[in-house]
Amino acid sequence: MPKKNKHKKILVLHGPNLNMLGKREKNVYGKISLEKINAELKKLAKDSNIDLEIKQSNIEGEIVNFIQKASRGRIKGILINPAAYTHTSVAIRDAILAIKLPTVEVHLSNIYQREEFRHKSLIAPVSMGQITGFGKDSYLLGLQALIKAIT
Ligand code: DQA
Repeated sequence: MPKKNKHKKILVLHGPNLNMLGKREKNVYGKISLEKINAELKKLAKDSNIDLEIKQSNIEGEIVNFIQKASRGRIKGILINPAAYTHTSVAIRDAILAIKLPTVEVHLSNIYQREEFRHKSLIAPVSMGQITGFGKDSYLLGLQALIKAIT
C-alpha cells in the first residue's frame, strides 16, 4: 500500500496581476518573479514538513472558490496576497469568514505608504495578521507565522 502523506497543508493564494511580477512596476514590486517567490515558499515549507498548494488568479470568484474548497480538504491555513482585491472584495472577506481557517495577509509593498485607496484592507480584519512592505520576505515571514500557528 502506498505510504499516506500526513503532512499538514497550507494554501498559498496570489491575487490579480501577481503573475506579472518581475515585469510590472518594478520600482514598486521589484524584479523577482512569482515563480521565484513560489520556489522559496516551497523550500521553507519543505524544511518544516508542510505541503503547499499554490494558486494564482486574476478572477475574484475563482479566488472565492479556492477558499471554499480549502475548507473541504487537508488544508490547515491560508497565506494570501489578495493584491487589488484587498481593497475592494467583500466576497473574498466573506469567504475567509465562512471557512474559519487561519489566514495571513501579505503584501510586497507597504500599502500604508502608497495611495490612500490602498490604506484600507477588507481582508485584514478577518485575518490573523498582516505583513506588508518587505518584498518577497513578506511572503516568507507570513508563511513562518502561519506554520507556527498551525503546528
Ligand atoms: C499588493 C498591493 C496592492 O495594493 C496592489 O493592488 C497589488 C499588490 C502588494 O503585494 O504590494 O497588486 O498586494
